[in-house]
Amino acid sequence: MKPLESDPTEDEILEYYVSPRKELPSGFQIGRITLNWSRNVVHNQTRPFVDIPSSLHILEKIACSVKHNEPVLLVGETGTGKTTLVQNLARRLGQPLTVLNLSQQSDVEDLLGGLKPTDPRFICIPLYNEFMELFPRTFSKTVNPGILEYLRKHRNDKNWKTILETLQKALQKVLDLTQRERQIAGAGKRKRPLSEEVFQAWERFTDKLNLAHRQINASSCMAFSFVEGAFITALRNGHWILLDEVNLAPPETLQRIMGVLEGENGSLCLTERGDVDYIERHPAFRLFGCMNPATDAGKRDLPYSVRSRFTEYFVDEILNDEDLTLFINQFLDDSCRNGELVKKILHFYKVAKRESEERLQDGANQNLWEDKSCSLSGYANWS
Ligand SMILES: Nc1ncnc2c1ncn2[C@@H]1O[C@H](COP(=O)(O)OP(=O)(O)OP(=O)(O)O)[C@@H](O)[C@H]1O
Ligand SMILES: [Mg+2]
Repeated sequence: MKPLESDPTEDEILEYYVSPRKELPSGFQIGRITLNWSRNVVHNQTRPFVDIPSSLHILEKIACSVKHNEPVLLVGETGTGKTTLVQNLARRLGQPLTVLNLSQQSDVEDLLGGLKPTDPRFICIPLYNEFMELFPRTFSKTVNPGILEYLRKHRNDKNWKTILETLQKALQKVLDLTQRERQIAGAGKRKRPLSEEVFQAWERFTDKLNLAHRQINASSCMAFSFVEGAFITALRNGHWILLDEVNLAPPETLQRIMGVLEGENGSLCLTERGDVDYIERHPAFRLFGCMNPATDAGKRDLPYSVRSRFTEYFVDEILNDEDLTLFINQFLDDSCRNGELVKKILHFYKVAKRESEERLQDGANQNLWEDKSCSLSGYANWS
């Protein structure tokens, strides 16, 4: 980038630090930061994003943290555009983003997942398929057609309980035979002895079948399986996660994801599923949090141990006339966009804002301005 001239004007400084966003072949440039394209998803743009200098400035800071793999916390009053900033950056990059709205009721299960009732079919069919593939690799299909036919029939009848029982019996026979063959290697009648890979595949199949027996209650044929939460899916697959209103979540819920905040390779172990190994964190995974400042009584603050691990930025509301005018213009049709109307909307917005701050309060003594319906884009859309 061209260096700054001596004694630069305000516009030149702004241009230098927040140059317009550019789409380069290698990635998306915002200010001094270039982020690589992800192009995983095509987001449908629902609302336009207005390139207000203050928004671009904060976007550049967020991009810088993304580049250096830091978790980002955006703090600001309601309606200042925190959620929109993260969504916009993800959309620009084609990066999958999952927004989780946290509340006082959010528990660990909402983030990480938990045991849920499932259709036994989803457990039995993969086992059935694996058996059908493994069996011919071990025994001749023509010599043993009965067992496969029997299983096929019960699979068509959706008789999951019988399938599991038959698989168990068949597996026992297979294990006896393969075990014998292993012990007297080379002494069997086989022309080609079984490979070590086939032995191991049967061992893995045995583990899966044992797990299926535990998951499916034999008497009621009711199945439970661990359904992974959005947080884990994002961590594993390299999506971005936005924990919106993160301060509202109970501290014990946030404590559970602390491992992910410990450096750029931070991860966690899903003990809820019985895992003993840490989940492999995808290098593209990023974590964002948004919250309102806990200035009013009753608003919960983020525990210091969690907050200190984020890189925090304050998102201020738009106050100057130029930015507000840019914003209004974006939401007006070409047909009705004229200087006079824009000025009137701007004037109305400022008066309404002042009045509400000074006088208007709802039954709970809350400032009405904090209601989302009072946003400037809302006014412009009405006019
Ligand atoms: N730069 C921008 N361009 C266009 N619209 C914007 C911009 N910034 C914010 N908005 C609009 O302002 C409104 C409020 O934004 P948003 O919901 O992101 O605020 P927030 O800070 O997340 O609020 P809250 O704290 O209540 O969650 C939305 O309708 C959004 O579309
Ligand atoms: Mg928000």
